[in-house]
Amino acid sequence: MIDLAEAQPRSANLTLPQFRGPRPGSETAALVAEILALKRQLNAVILAHNYQVPEIQDVADFVGDSLGLAQQAAGTSADVIVFCGVHFMAETAKILNPGKLVLLPDLNAGCSLEESCPAPKLAALQATNPNFYTIAYINCSAAVKALSDVIVTSGNALKIVNAAPKDRDLLFVPDENLGQWVMEQTGRPMTLWRGNCYAHVEFQRDNIIRARAAYPDAEIVVHPESLREVRELADVVCSTEKMITHCKSSPAKRFVIVTESGIIHRMRKECPGKEFLCAPVYDVMRMPTDNCRCSECRYMKMNTLEKLRDCMQERTPHLELPADILAQARVPMERMLEISARS
Ligand code: 13P
Ligand code: SF4
Repeated sequence: MIDLAEAQPRSANLTLPQFRGPRPGSETAALVAEILALKRQLNAVILAHNYQVPEIQDVADFVGDSLGLAQQAAGTSADVIVFCGVHFMAETAKILNPGKLVLLPDLNAGCSLEESCPAPKLAALQATNPNFYTIAYINCSAAVKALSDVIVTSGNALKIVNAAPKDRDLLFVPDENLGQWVMEQTGRPMTLWRGNCYAHVEFQRDNIIRARAAYPDAEIVVHPESLREVRELADVVCSTEKMITHCKSSPAKRFVIVTESGIIHRMRKECPGKEFLCAPVYDVMRMPTDNCRCSECRYMKMNTLEKLRDCMQERTPHLELPADILAQARVPMERMLEISARS
């Protein structure tokens, strides 16, 4: 039996190798050159989420969280949007740009939150209470957005829930953990859909306690999709973009990051001189040998540089949505952007 007080996360498992960009003359450098040429040819913009692999982040025009990506998609003058993220994110770009070609390198890049909330099930729940005001986390399908009153991201959920009508019963879908956090922060009661992000619920309280003991000087920065028992151990709870701004401005020199490990790439680039440790997801107590790894979203990691090049070359896979869904889903998306822009 290992003594909990003595068990410490092994730093070798907590850190990720630094990505140094493609080696001149390498296959990666050739791929990047092809992608940049295709971008000019198509008059395309490449948008990438903070969880994408480093090579994709480095070739993108903009890397950010769901809110930043939606804002970029809403404001772009490019003819083609190449979305390096997951399916619901590319759908969101299409909702905001119904006339544009929106490409996604891998159409199978889904999301456990989106899967947890099929539109017919949501419609059935909504039918039980005509006073529901439906607030949908952006991690849902276009059909669910079309049934919703307003969309939120983890970056603006508090602001948007605070602005929700006081005389309505709030229904929050599909992330139960984000919804709980929003209720705690705003004091607004909400009915919560029982979905979760499979990658964030892997983080365990015990591992965070051990990280705290091993690195007492480090700040623990947690994404609100994590379990309450993990959020309770955090110094800061926020969206991926706010994690980056926080780490830049904090006087701390070391951070334990409790979210998908792709974000560490930007943190290391943008915060030189600071150390970022990726929170482990396996229980090092129960599997003491080869047991500990960083959290990766299997959907976010489906995109590769090759697939990015191929989708631009072939102008597919691209997003197609029925016109009525596009029109209905645009209303709560625009409401979100409008409330978000308020001072
Ligand atoms: P944000 O980048 O908006 O914080 O979202 C995290 C996430 O899980 C996206 O799928
Ligand atoms: Fe969905 Fe979680 Fe992956 Fe984000 S990290 S795309 S919420 S499964």
